[in-house]
Amino acid sequence: MSNSSKLLRSLTKSEQSPVEANVIGEIPKWLNGTLFRNGPGRFKYGDKTYEHLFDGHSCIHKFQIKNGKVFYSNKFLETHSYKKTLKESRLYSVFGTIDVCSNLYERMKLVFQWPETLDNANINLVPYGNDRLFALTETNTMYEIDPSNLCIINRIQIDKYLQQATTTFAHPHILEDGSWITMGMNFKNFPPHYELIEYKKVDDIKVICENAEIIARVPSSHYFGLSYFHSFGLTKNYIVFLEQSIKFDVKNLLTGIFTNKAFSNAFCMLDNFPTRIHVINRNNGQIIQKKFTSEPLVVFHHINTYEVYDLQNNLCEIITDVCAYDPKFFDIKNFTYENMYTESLLGTSAIRSTARRITIPMKNEDYEIYCEAKELNPNVVFELPVINYSRFNGKNYQFMYAANYFTLPFSIVKMNMQNPSEVLEKKYESENGKYLPSEPIFVESPSPKSEDDGILLVMVLSDKKDYLSILDAKNLKEIAKAEIPEDVKGAFTFHGFFAQSDKFKKLNQ
Ligand SMILES: [Fe+2]
Repeated sequence: MSNSSKLLRSLTKSEQSPVEANVIGEIPKWLNGTLFRNGPGRFKYGDKTYEHLFDGHSCIHKFQIKNGKVFYSNKFLETHSYKKTLKESRLYSVFGTIDVCSNLYERMKLVFQWPETLDNANINLVPYGNDRLFALTETNTMYEIDPSNLCIINRIQIDKYLQQATTTFAHPHILEDGSWITMGMNFKNFPPHYELIEYKKVDDIKVICENAEIIARVPSSHYFGLSYFHSFGLTKNYIVFLEQSIKFDVKNLLTGIFTNKAFSNAFCMLDNFPTRIHVINRNNGQIIQKKFTSEPLVVFHHINTYEVYDLQNNLCEIITDVCAYDPKFFDIKNFTYENMYTESLLGTSAIRSTARRITIPMKNEDYEIYCEAKELNPNVVFELPVINYSRFNGKNYQFMYAANYFTLPFSIVKMNMQNPSEVLEKKYESENGKYLPSEPIFVESPSPKSEDDGILLVMVLSDKKDYLSILDAKNLKEIAKAEIPEDVKGAFTFHGFFAQSDKFKKLNQ
């Protein structure tokens, strides 16, 4: 383990009281608000370790930026899973970890109901209605969070409200008024279905999904399972959903219940399964009755999707850009805590994902249509892509920003999607230190003159002081950094968002 990363951390204490960071450089005067981030913050309990990157207990991080000053705090999300593990020193079954104390009866109950310990909402943290905050994962449970102290306000089991959808979804699209378009899996039908769901913004609603509506149901192409999915594309009129080469297999799940295998064992790679592209009309919920396919792919994150019209204003194409892995090399079971900690996968094909552009022809009258997934730049490997979401999601756009965790030194990259050979990179490196940058969050300038007129907020873990790195989104130059005192530690995060103080007033109190 001599070359191990000290940056995939398992924290043992949180820092709920904000500590002031040491600002070096000058933070733009217009940048006021709160950066919220979520990710696996604790893996180890005594001599036991949650084994998969997805299994660490959620730690929520908060950077408050006010008048050039920065304050940092964090808190473990006090889920049933976290509290029971802490109290009993027992690891409960999650994605890639086995509960060695469980008996067959306990595991059999899984077939009929979700155990309360599958509630580790450690993937994303998003606003609803511009004034409420939710921690999300991909089971049946999400949490509403008090933005002031990061405590839980409400535990929501969506299958109590939505009889059809049985899972939550970590990447809702967020509309201007704060409504969500989101997804869920429905195992109750045969074949299982993917559900597209709208959580409309309603004032004074207690539980977010009280009046959720299912927009569309897409039947699975697999009889005994569903393709795993983690995000989808959304334009003004269409939803693009990729049914891809990574399958959640019900037979494997049931076998695993008897033999006490981890949930990750239920996933299998179908490297000959052509990606099935479903195009759904947002306005009426109708699925376009064509068989669009592409090459086998594994996709966690869509980058952007937009409609292209001809001179007569007829829709001719839908472009969907994704960050994709080759299923021949990818295995979700590789993403273990151990492999991530020892960095043993760096530079291998197992963790190589690049930008792909899928062009869906909408004027072609054939029933079966193959759509190429063109690799835009094979030399740029990245994950966690972001765009100028509030103004360019669903629209023709130019710039993507993302994190490179696949080759050292780790870096933030910016790609011109209209000319993908044009790439900028901000490397986080020094002779003595190691650095782990987070997903970059784009914040637009108040009077933007271009799509990339703004800054990127990057939470950087370091083997000395962790810090918030503030980059000029045009050139990726670091214009300021805010160092957290060395005795206060952050942890790896998947996703988050920035709540500007003028738009998200209640999230900044
Ligand atoms: Fe994600």
